[in-house]
Amino acid sequence: MNWRQLPIDQKNLEKSYTEKYGLGSKYQTEQERVYLSPEIYPDLKTAISWLTLTQGDTVLDIGVNNGYELELFQNISEQKWLDSISVIGFDIIEEVLQKAWSRFENKSNYMFVKGNILDFKGKDISNDTEFKILDNSIDIIIALTSLQSTSIIENFEIFIENLMIKLKDSAQILVGTPNFHLDANNNIGGGLFDANEQKVDVKAARNFSDKLTAILISKGFQHKQFGETIIFDYFRREN
Ligand SMILES: C[S@@+](CC[C@H](N)C(=O)[O-])C[C@H]1O[C@@H](n2cnc3c(N)ncnc32)[C@H](O)[C@@H]1O
Repeated sequence: MNWRQLPIDQKNLEKSYTEKYGLGSKYQTEQERVYLSPEIYPDLKTAISWLTLTQGDTVLDIGVNNGYELELFQNISEQKWLDSISVIGFDIIEEVLQKAWSRFENKSNYMFVKGNILDFKGKDISNDTEFKILDNSIDIIIALTSLQSTSIIENFEIFIENLMIKLKDSAQILVGTPNFHLDANNNIGGGLFDANEQKVDVKAARNFSDKLTAILISKGFQHKQFGETIIFDYFRREN
């Protein structure tokens, strides 16, 4: 079975996500090719250019996995990711976070936390201590192909309400929603594979993006969108 077709077991999230996205998974070998493909890379560049980074910002990357996308962001961003910016990479899989940490080993402004983002707390993998995301502490959220995950959409409205508490009044959110699957020849095809229904759903990504957009606009955010293969939604609120 293709990794995109593996359903998630809600009772054993870490094991299930490790099978699907862990170091031994096919995802790890496909991730770079997919991000660098002509269908995605130019759109990613546009989306990154929308982010404004300010000295002292705290960035939370939800579902950071092995840190590849975080490193790619920084390489293609026209703005410098200053050492005064704190970056929290969050994921439910420990082994991928170890890899992410090794990418940023020399950077003391990076930390990687293992936990379920619905709890807004987890284990700082550098020292095995509990880390809690404090209220009113986050300036920027990045969530690339993670928010539509089964574990998060099941409780989506509650999750967003709790997420709002963690954000500062002025905040930015960049979300990438996958609107593709890999076909039998490993080519990018339109529509997300629904692992529960075991079929391609051409509307799921747009529906998710529309729902997210409606909620965040109601919370006072302005919105910009770009991209088809990954739908990039950027939200900004200034207070
Ligand atoms: C499709 S991968 C995307 C990884 C990376 N952001 C990228 O774009 O390559 C989704 C990631 O979200 C993580 N994830 C899913 N549900 C989660 C949850 N409830 N809490 C924390 N991480 C979660 C998975 O473990 C996985 O690493």
